Amino acid sequence: MYSEKVMDHFNNPRNVGEIENPSGVGTVGNAKCGDIMRMYLDIDGDGIIRDVKFKTFGCGAAVATSSMATELVKGKSIRQALEVTNKAVMDALDGLPPVKVHCSLLAEEAIHAALWDYAEKNNITIEGLEKPVDDIEEKIEEEY
Ligand code: FES
Repeated sequence: MYSEKVMDHFNNPRNVGEIENPSGVGTVGNAKCGDIMRMYLDIDGDGIIRDVKFKTFGCGAAVATSSMATELVKGKSIRQALEVTNKAVMDALDGLPPVKVHCSLLAEEAIHAALWDYAEKNNITIEGLEKPVDDIEEKIEEEY
């Protein structure tokens, strides 16, 4: 049911933890299943994501997608990080079962929430970044 890559990232999640004094931190939940994801970013003066850590209180797919999402944004620019959509994360994991697609949205939205926090702290606008939601269900109902 799950790809080998999903199982690998679930069993050995990358970049788990916290960053002290992060450049940005974002938390997103899914009220329906009760899962929560928090993403920490360390962004340098050139706008490059030097470090990223996450904590997920959630299902296996949420852990695997957050782990893969951190791998995809690490070392990248903010613009490149915005291209890490839930679909990009799923592709990198060789897919997710249809009932688990919504879990990957948590990863995308948590990155956006952390970038939003970074932008607010620095009084900047990140082009193409929409205000993230606290509860991903709002988006799922809109989009799916
Ligand atoms: Fe809640 Fe996967 S079941 S995020």
